[in-house]
Amino acid sequence: MAEAKKAYINQLGGFEGHQVRLDGWLYNNRPSGKVQFLMVRDGTGLCQCVLEAGAVDEETFEQVKRLGQESSLSVTGLVRAEPRSPGGYELAASGVKIHNAASDYPITPKEHGIDFLLKNRHLHLRSMRPWAIGRVRHTVIDAIRRFFNDNGFTLVDTPIFTTIAGEGEQTLFEVDYFGQPLHLSQTGQLYLESAAMSFGRVYCFGPTFRAEKSKTRRHLTEFWMVEPEVAYIDLNGLLELAENFVFSIIKRVLTDNRPELEALGRDLKVLESIEKPFVRMTYTEAAELLTSDKTQQFMAEQLEGLKREKAAFDKELAEIEAAEAKGGLKKWQQEKNARRIPELRAEIAELETKIENNPKHAKLASEFRWGKDLGGSDETIISQMYDRPIFVTHYPRGAKAFYMRQDRDNEQVVENFDLLAPAGFGEIIGGSVREDDYERLLARIRQEGYNPESYQWYLDLRRYGSVPHGGFGLGVERTVAWLTGEKHIRQCIAFPRMMDKVYL
Ligand code: 4AD
Ligand code: MG
Repeated sequence: MAEAKKAYINQLGGFEGHQVRLDGWLYNNRPSGKVQFLMVRDGTGLCQCVLEAGAVDEETFEQVKRLGQESSLSVTGLVRAEPRSPGGYELAASGVKIHNAASDYPITPKEHGIDFLLKNRHLHLRSMRPWAIGRVRHTVIDAIRRFFNDNGFTLVDTPIFTTIAGEGEQTLFEVDYFGQPLHLSQTGQLYLESAAMSFGRVYCFGPTFRAEKSKTRRHLTEFWMVEPEVAYIDLNGLLELAENFVFSIIKRVLTDNRPELEALGRDLKVLESIEKPFVRMTYTEAAELLTSDKTQQFMAEQLEGLKREKAAFDKELAEIEAAEAKGGLKKWQQEKNARRIPELRAEIAELETKIENNPKHAKLASEFRWGKDLGGSDETIISQMYDRPIFVTHYPRGAKAFYMRQDRDNEQVVENFDLLAPAGFGEIIGGSVREDDYERLLARIRQEGYNPESYQWYLDLRRYGSVPHGGFGLGVERTVAWLTGEKHIRQCIAFPRMMDKVYL
């Protein structure tokens, strides 16, 4: 055993025909008489290790048979191609070393509620879905840094203890800073605008905090946001930057994370077919679309589709339940059913919610009036109508942040944009050109009821060499949710913080 070279599962292709040692954990074992099929995971992937009686001494063979899920072990053996093994290779085991025998691991393939899983997040992270999502997240973050580093941007780390609000005072977390009230960063943008006047093109990337009183699948109270800021840029320049940026992230994930996306059941064709240019529409066009007959028809068709989908799942569940009730199923069939039943129940529950919400959302859309910000359901509807990301530009001034530049041709709107991910995922980016005129900015600060004193340094940027500039912020968890097809962003960060719950 000592001679075998250590290998990682995702690199087994380079070791075909050689002896290697895998260090990992037991995901699953299917003993069948004189042979055991050990599924081993090592953090890079899953590999089937075939252990035949006689390959190891009898005592070891029996010990391995009794090992519970998540026991830690090292398996030595010969690497051979096997298309049915998850990574395309398997190990013909010739030795097993047990490090720690686990029993009664709390997370099993049977049904667990999300509450249970999040309480056990320290263990849940080892399960397939959180693992695969975590790998995609890693790629997304690397692709983000690469894009800006390769395109002439300078990284500037903006503070987390901040003195002024960027995105509205209602969502500030206050901290007692030696007796002075400060707040946790909602955005690095205002500081970044100052840095852009020094370096030209800058970005910051860090944790962001919002005391957001929403328990939706799109909101965390602590999330990661990357924000570029560029001196001498207009709205079209920003859209082009955001488009190239998001496109580069999609390409990287498709290159680096195929096995993970497949494990997650993500339809790769959907991501592969995304092309530039993305859709562009103004807020006013979006408002017209929401209140149009076309949208009502779209919603009605969608409702029919949801009902059909639910009927198919209901049927499958009924058939499985009937087979279970009848009895006499083989062990592998029972195991397969034990995995499928909770999946089906979850799908059905989700479809029921969508069926219930559809008419409500259709009504909200039909009652949409120019002037409001787009609601979550409005964004969902628009983004369901397209198969590529959608830029919505020029929102009403009153619906958006104070720093956004007023459109000089139409003072009712600002030069901003949101980027909506397609297929119902909704907003992943918010950005704008910044108000570069001192007087207009001061007026907006007053209008918001902010204290101009606190904004003196920010106003200074409009006094000393003010230039057209702008930027945007992309939320990492929302982007990962979209790319992985995960519905709830709490699964897209290792230890989520939500309004109603912080587990561990
Ligand atoms: O649209 P937002 O609020 O924009 C800003 O913060 C600007 N200062 C950015 C800039 O122009 N530099 O937030 C940007 C993105 C959203 O599109 C979303 O992806 C994410 O940050 N985000 C959240 N993600 C998770 N949970 C929340 N509560 C989020 N709030 C915003
Ligand atoms: Mg926004």
